Amino acid sequence: MSKAKVGVLISGRGSNMAALLYAAKAADCPYEIVLVAANDPDAPGLTLAAAEGIATFGQSHKGMKRAAFDAIIDAQLRDAGAHYVALAGYMRLLSPEFVSGWADRMLNIHPSLLPKYKGLDTHQRAIDAGDSHAGCSVHIVTAELDDGPVLGQTPVAILPGDTPDSLAARILIAEHQLYSRTLADFVTRERQPDWLLNRVREAALALPQADEIVSHGMPCFGIVKGKKFAYFTRDHHGDGIIAVLVKTTAPDEQAMLMESDPERYYRPAYFGNDWVGIRLDLGDTDWDHIGTRLRSSWQQVAPRKLMGLMDVADQF
Ligand code: GRF
Repeated sequence: MSKAKVGVLISGRGSNMAALLYAAKAADCPYEIVLVAANDPDAPGLTLAAAEGIATFGQSHKGMKRAAFDAIIDAQLRDAGAHYVALAGYMRLLSPEFVSGWADRMLNIHPSLLPKYKGLDTHQRAIDAGDSHAGCSVHIVTAELDDGPVLGQTPVAILPGDTPDSLAARILIAEHQLYSRTLADFVTRERQPDWLLNRVREAALALPQADEIVSHGMPCFGIVKGKKFAYFTRDHHGDGIIAVLVKTTAPDEQAMLMESDPERYYRPAYFGNDWVGIRLDLGDTDWDHIGTRLRSSWQQVAPRKLMGLMDVADQF
């Protein structure tokens, strides 16, 4: 199984980046670091990453508009083949364009038990509040600062006499453990059949008059009392493949897709030439594309009277 490709963004020391990088050296780690980029060419973490043989990029954001700078970082990440982004002490607010370009594929580590203490000075604030525990959180990055769904947390006890620095140093130990474990779980969830089925289900059932039944042992999606437009297959007849089967829009499209990306597209047995299998277990699924495919498959089988509903949906 190929490893998920992760780009890491830092601004300084980069100890969390180092923790991710060293964890990635284990043969069974499900991710690899393909780029470490910083908004400061002198960030110490860049030297460390380069010495470990990782591609690096450093450029100052000073004097640049936020969106323009983020576009440069975005291009670097994509050129490096990153499929995920891990923010590790990246001290920049991100433009909405950048955040939406990596929606659901960008994580951050924050030194507090979110939703407590978003932003800066988290250690001092936890001490001042008299909390028994501070800690760290890894969360999905959304448009709001330190706000996306929390994927994992480690509480860290506050000791008598703790200063912000002593507490920060202890939390950092916990950060280094938490980040690599949470990132590993996150990149492998996209290979788990139940998670993949839920993703397909969400997109399929959002189409007009769609419902789900089981056919030939496969969850499948059709128009209520009508034809089916998608099948979810998981290890069918022991083939070890997780995929979605959809109807093609033109007779030679199946062959064309298989030729364009032979690893991803295949001819599903017993389905004829007007269906195509799209593998979902390669770790780099483009879910917008799957959404588009489900939608055009729905259009292939929908009775004329329902087409109007899709046109209405298109307007929103
Ligand atoms: C860490 O405390 C992290 O939680 C926060 O910034 C700090 C970065 O430290 N987001 P490092 O550069 O990873 O050593």
